[in-house]
Amino acid sequence: MPESKKHRPFARFMHWGMAILVVGMIAIGFVMIQKGLPRPVQNFLFITHKNLGVLMLVLIVVRMAYRWLRPPELAPVALPPVQRMAAHLSHLGLYLLLLIMPLAGYIRVRAGGFPIEFLDQLDLPTLVPRSKELAAAAKAVHYYGSYALAGLVLLHIAAAAYHGLIKRDGVMSRMWPPIGK
Ligand code: HEM
Ligand code: HEM
Repeated sequence: MPESKKHRPFARFMHWGMAILVVGMIAIGFVMIQKGLPRPVQNFLFITHKNLGVLMLVLIVVRMAYRWLRPPELAPVALPPVQRMAAHLSHLGLYLLLLIMPLAGYIRVRAGGFPIEFLDQLDLPTLVPRSKELAAAAKAVHYYGSYALAGLVLLHIAAAAYHGLIKRDGVMSRMWPPIGK
């Protein structure tokens, strides 16, 4: 296949779909742990966060498998080697955190003995044993991971804005639009 000016349509669709979901999940996560929220609101946010989070785990596995099996074949953009390296590392960090966060969330909730409503409806078994220690460790991973992910996303958006608005070097336009050729 000749080198393309854009990421593949499926990769772009997944990128933007998941970008909305991830930003939503981070926002819900930080809001739902605030004290003084009305109980029904807090319950609704927790249920949304847990169930959407498990869906994100499925989506990221599909996305990473696709990325690995059909890597982008992009026409090169002239970038200083340090910037190229920084982009690779930050994308790798995003992928890893997108995997670690829902996994840690799942383990934290299941090891703590709590429900994940839609998995329970489907009668799917719990895949981790109940354990206070495991729940506490996964909680810590989820907590520190959430700051690392939020920080990396901010950096990523700043880098995208730099490429799209200041440098106008084609990096932004190869991830846009979310659908279509
Ligand atoms: C991409 C996926 C996810 C993101 C970005 C995310 C993000 C966050 C953030 C920002 C917080 C607030 C900070 C904190 O206390 O840790 C949080 C809390 C929490 N998340 Fe997630 N989360 C994700 C997936 C999940 C999943 C799949 C579950 C469970 C099935 C889950 C369960 C929880 C719980 C129970 C809390 C409350 C804090 C605690 O008691 O551990 N999260 N999440
Ligand atoms: C306003 C928000 C965002 C903008 C403008 C944006 C923009 C971009 C652009 C232009 C690229 C292509 C870079 C390249 O081709 O070298 C990219 C790649 C990527 N973005 Fe975003 N992004 C945004 C939000 C997010 C969010 C929230 C996430 C997930 C946490 C994310 C994860 C990724 C990943 C993992 C890649 C690497 C794709 C690959 O080559 O495999 N992005 N983004």
